[in-house]
Amino acid sequence: MKVLILGSGGREHAIAWKVAQSPLLTKLYIAPGNAGTSEPGENVQIDISDFYKVKAFCLEMAIDMLIVGPENPLVAGIVDFFHNDRQLAGIKIIGPDKKGALLEGSKEFAKDFMQKYNIPTAAYKSFNKDSLEEAREFLKTITPPYVLKADGLAAGKGVLILNDLEIAYQELKEIFDGKFGSAGSKVVIEDFLKGIELSVFVLTDGSSYVILPEAKDYKRIGEGDTGLNTGGMGAVSPVPFAGKEFLRKVEERIVKPTMNGLKKEEIDYKGFIFIGLMNVEGDPYVIEYNVRMGDPEAEVVIPRIKSDLLQILNLVSEGELNREQLEIDERSVTTLMLVSGGYPEAYQKGFKITGLEKVEDSIIYHAGTRKESGSVLTNGGRVLAVSSYGSDFKEALKVSYKNASKISFKEMYFRKDIGFDL
Ligand code: AMP
Ligand code: GLY
Repeated sequence: MKVLILGSGGREHAIAWKVAQSPLLTKLYIAPGNAGTSEPGENVQIDISDFYKVKAFCLEMAIDMLIVGPENPLVAGIVDFFHNDRQLAGIKIIGPDKKGALLEGSKEFAKDFMQKYNIPTAAYKSFNKDSLEEAREFLKTITPPYVLKADGLAAGKGVLILNDLEIAYQELKEIFDGKFGSAGSKVVIEDFLKGIELSVFVLTDGSSYVILPEAKDYKRIGEGDTGLNTGGMGAVSPVPFAGKEFLRKVEERIVKPTMNGLKKEEIDYKGFIFIGLMNVEGDPYVIEYNVRMGDPEAEVVIPRIKSDLLQILNLVSEGELNREQLEIDERSVTTLMLVSGGYPEAYQKGFKITGLEKVEDSIIYHAGTRKESGSVLTNGGRVLAVSSYGSDFKEALKVSYKNASKISFKEMYFRKDIGFDL
């Protein structure tokens, strides 16, 4: 099979690394990719938001399967675009249709979906600009912290958690005034859930599903989970506090009703579902859906899949996932993100990365990197993910930390406390 992966982060490198191990693969392209993805495949410089360019490439190279890494093309409707074009009829595509992508693209849609299908989540109400005063009255009726969520995609910045009523009201006004652009034309206000977070990943063909290993990521830039939110600074799988009974509740109360909802809503969903959860005293609540794999969660979940991922994705696209039993590696995998100084705010790019050849027993998934005349240079905020196996997360982390210390680039930063709370 000839495969094209869309995206350029650690997640896409992990997918490319895994797909490249499949005997079914004949040629792998990644658009636009990074320095790491050019090892298992060939990078192609296409603007992935331009579906006509993606189409032209798929036709020219006779691509059999398109795997969509990030959410933006999905929310913009790339699956519908492919399905509605006769020339593209034979090409398999991994990801939900545009309506399914609203589970990530619209917080209001996701909350309404959960309410309709009885999926445990924080109580909420949504508001638009015209109902600002009503929203203020609503805020007065709930106990802080106040959780405000811009409805649309806001690059991970659209959730605010505030303790003060007046500040919450001011922020709400600013969101309606365009702080997050059109993503903030509606705002969901919801109850604060107190607990510990983790994520569960599901791969579905729209009717059957398999549950992939769960993971926990570390979103804040600073140690002890302090400072600004990032895309994720590290991750661990499995999650020690997600026992069998908790995961059984996740499947019964969340995964099964989610699948039921997808069918009832006639959503065409052939791809990954990322379920962000809060464990509230042993009971799971959904914080958010994402319609793709997580990053850096992919860098710990994918290395734990022993089965042939390309074969599984092929069954997904054919609606025959029920034929597959997933084989999972029992070992732990952890990842550490090495990031550019300044991230998640302003940072510089173009620094030379050294020491990669000294790494032993870890898999380096590239995120923001590029190649230039034989050197690997930094090219983003999150630069490299150092993933390692171990008999438990502590042993795996030791290997990740040992190898992280061999790598360097100017202003490199990483958290020293991944797994500290486990
Ligand atoms: P999201 O962008 O939906 O992932 O939200 C960002 C972060 O806000 C989550 O990872 C949680 O840490 C936090 N969060 C979101 N919703 C809630 C909630 N209802 N209660 C507590 N924390 C929340
Ligand atoms: N690491 C969180 C995400 O991928 O959304």
